[in-house]
Amino acid sequence: LETTLAIIKPDAVRAGNTGHIIQRITDAGFRLRGMRLMHLTRPQAEGFYAVHRERPFFGELVDFMCSGPVVVMALEKEDAVRAWRDLMGPTNSKDAPKGTIRGDFGTDVGENAVHGSDSPENATTEVAFFFATSELL
Ligand code: GTP
Ligand code: MG
Repeated sequence: LETTLAIIKPDAVRAGNTGHIIQRITDAGFRLRGMRLMHLTRPQAEGFYAVHRERPFFGELVDFMCSGPVVVMALEKEDAVRAWRDLMGPTNSKDAPKGTIRGDFGTDVGENAVHGSDSPENATTEVAFFFATSELL
């Protein structure tokens, strides 16, 4: 079994979609190992998305991620990284099919409702960014 990091982003929390998204996660057979509601500070958002530091949208991304509360979750399943990215849909919500979380709850390429780790290696780093080992059930 693999564990991946999921974030319900500020747009989706603000829109009242937290419950709908958690329902889809549990319906898809993920087991929740950790979950926390938090409002990211600027340094936290910059640190979390440090790989995107040189990208032109970095400032917008950090502003957005700090714009309201998020829900961070550690999700366990077989092939969890890929399974969660499949359930999220493509980055740009405008291209995301209905039935995917980004297709149903996101708006565009920036405000796309959810985050998911993109590799098992990054999942390990990202889970550790938010959860101490003792907090993972
Ligand atoms: P994450 O799961 O959030 O990492 O998304 P991703 O892996 O599908 O995409 P990527 O890692 O390439 O980009 C990270 C995040 O940056 C995206 O989810 C968007 O929120 C944001 N982003 C990506 N491209 C753009 C862009 O062109 N404009 C803006 N404003 N934000 C972008
Ligand atoms: Mg990414």
